[in-house]
Amino acid sequence: MTARIIDGKARAERLVADVGAAVAARVAAGGSRPGLAVVLVGDHPASQVYVRNKRRTTEAAGMRSFAHDLPAATSQQELLARVDRLNADPAVNGILVQLPLPKHIDEEAVTERIAPLKDVDGFHPYNIGRLVLKRPTLRPCTPYGCMTLLKDTGEDLVGKHAVVIGQSNIVGRPMALELLMARCTVTVCHSATRDLPGLVRQGDIVVAGVGRAGFVRGDWIKPGAIVIDVGINRTAEGKLTGDVDFAAAREIAGWITPVPGGVGPMTIATLLANTLRAAELQDGTA
Ligand code: GUN
Repeated sequence: MTARIIDGKARAERLVADVGAAVAARVAAGGSRPGLAVVLVGDHPASQVYVRNKRRTTEAAGMRSFAHDLPAATSQQELLARVDRLNADPAVNGILVQLPLPKHIDEEAVTERIAPLKDVDGFHPYNIGRLVLKRPTLRPCTPYGCMTLLKDTGEDLVGKHAVVIGQSNIVGRPMALELLMARCTVTVCHSATRDLPGLVRQGDIVVAGVGRAGFVRGDWIKPGAIVIDVGINRTAEGKLTGDVDFAAAREIAGWITPVPGGVGPMTIATLLANTLRAAELQDGTA
């Protein structure tokens, strides 16, 4: 069996176009143009690329993009003061502080300082807590984007065994909560998991978010499974590649996301959908 490719790039383009149309309708009806502030501290090379793409796509959807590029030596106090200003600015509906932050800054303190209804990353304990309770408000972009791709396959997700590899706050944990909310049976694997290949082989759905190129082998995949690869790794030759051995897995899986062109573009498109929703939540039209 050769897997069908889940075209995240095309799906993301549709979502950005839909958000752009909704923004245009909102503005035509006299509403404000949603604004997204993206804060980048320091010069982490991968973060610079991600942030550039986020800002470009924000403008493509007809939203206002506010760039806050701060030096690596910015103190935690200065960054928190910047977040306070953005929280108080009515033109800013969404705030994203790109992670990772320099080591001298406590990421949790910064995440928790963002007003929950402007937290378009969905990382604030309020938003994570809402997701735990099956009453999500703003949902973490990468897992939410993965759910859009899973639903687009048209497969019935109810009762499927989903195996999530990785337990990060950004991907693994919220992904497990999303899958549980979709009524999957969920197994979360991490570095202390015993017999990882054996568990992955049970997965009707496999979501890999470990950050290691080719970590998930083709022969770990159950025939016909849906494989969602969240990894974005750069090889020694400078090529982008996922956490899954794509060439081997695609011969066994039923569906698979490519890297690049899979989950990555969906994360950014979902961020914009979240920003529009944040604007609606703030003016009470959500
Ligand atoms: N770094 C890697 N992924 C993300 C993300 O989704 N949001 C933020 N803020 N930082 C990240």
